[in-house]
Amino acid sequence: MKTTIAQVGQYVDKEVTIGAWLANKRSSGKIAFLQLRDGTGFIQGVVVKAEVAETLFQQAKSLTQESSLYVTGIVRKDERSSFGYELTVTDLNVIHEAEGYPITPKAHGTEFLMDNRHLWIRSKKQHAVMKIRNEIIKSTYDFFFSKGFTKLDSPILTGSSPEGTSELFHTKYFDEDAFLSQSGQLYAEAGAMALNRVFTFGPTFRAEKSKTRRHLIEFWMIEPEMAFVEHEESLDIQEEYVCYLAEQVRKNCDLELDLLERDKEKLAAIKGPFPRVTYDDALELLHEKGFDDIVWGDDFGSPHETALAEHYDKPVFITRYPKSLKPFYMQPAPDRDDVVLCADLIAPEGYGEIIGGSERIHDYDLLKQEIEAHGLPLDAYQWYLDLRKYGSVPHSGFGLGLERTVAWLSGIEHVRETIAFPRLLNRLYP
Ligand code: 4AD
Ligand code: MG
Repeated sequence: MKTTIAQVGQYVDKEVTIGAWLANKRSSGKIAFLQLRDGTGFIQGVVVKAEVAETLFQQAKSLTQESSLYVTGIVRKDERSSFGYELTVTDLNVIHEAEGYPITPKAHGTEFLMDNRHLWIRSKKQHAVMKIRNEIIKSTYDFFFSKGFTKLDSPILTGSSPEGTSELFHTKYFDEDAFLSQSGQLYAEAGAMALNRVFTFGPTFRAEKSKTRRHLIEFWMIEPEMAFVEHEESLDIQEEYVCYLAEQVRKNCDLELDLLERDKEKLAAIKGPFPRVTYDDALELLHEKGFDDIVWGDDFGSPHETALAEHYDKPVFITRYPKSLKPFYMQPAPDRDDVVLCADLIAPEGYGEIIGGSERIHDYDLLKQEIEAHGLPLDAYQWYLDLRKYGSVPHSGFGLGLERTVAWLSGIEHVRETIAFPRLLNRLYP
């Protein structure tokens, strides 16, 4: 029976054939252990000299790393392996013999691994991270579809710059100028006026000269946008969404979390309610903790965010930031016009901001004034202003950075390992 490693549990004590690659191997004079992978999982194949033809045993012993083959064997239950099964090999058919695979079981430096990212993603740890990423994507669709949201596809080529003009990728659009999308938000707002609750999910681009463990040049963002939803209700939804992601990863990625040595207690502790702390109170807390140099109006850097998240030991919403720190579209607080109805969700364990969101300005005149005050070209935003001209309603939305969320839930140090082919400050290859 032809099957995959993920499916072998259905064939205990039966003979199966699996198309696989040789990830690693160990052998003695009497037995060869083949670490096999087929992309759906990893399994150990055991070739016992006394039980197979001599040529087969010799072939198993001489197999090179990453050679591709069809392996036939009997599936055995194996309590010692975390996967739970093993294969007693009865036959091998080599498809392609690999020579000199560069990523050997020894330790390699990061730059070398990044240069070989197209191969590195085959390794166990990278495989586990990709599976967790996939679980988060699936859970995102499940969550928002179950709540009646419609997926809206926002364009990648745009004429607008929602998150400020300094980090734009510029390109030509025939005779016009265009930018790669920094965020699907403005289009999601138009979508919300047509479909009530929508979410976008796509690649976004920031020409940020940041070389940190949290920044990518190209990253994927999930951006829900909701009509008739005010700030606090949006925070309720964010909280429920993030808890759902953590729960699904814990439930469905147990092997991967073990392989990554993720502390699962930390994931189990991701439960609402998340503290909602104003920027002003957070600033006071930082002062109490000895961060003396930061004053009202300064943005929080990663040491500040880490200190805040540590203090609460939970994801924490920092709300009502100074207006001067945030983009043009955020609704000012009703009681103060120097702060806006926004929140950043800061993840614990130093992972930093994973969500940024706000209520949006729904008054035409105020929005027009803000667009002008930010020096943005009115003609490029006329369509966006139209949304405030024809049945404007209060609405809110947010953006969750997929890679930072994958890093956090997987317990991975750097976002470069959370996407198959990261785009970094000095990296466009492979
Ligand atoms: O805070 P940001 O810039 O917010 C927006 O783009 C809004 N338009 C979202 C919205 O309200 N619809 O980005 C949102 C999130 C951040 O919290 C972070 O998780 C992630 O996107 N992010 C990045 N992730 C990796 N690399 C970068 N350079 C990132 N910049 C933002
Ligand atoms: Mg932000």
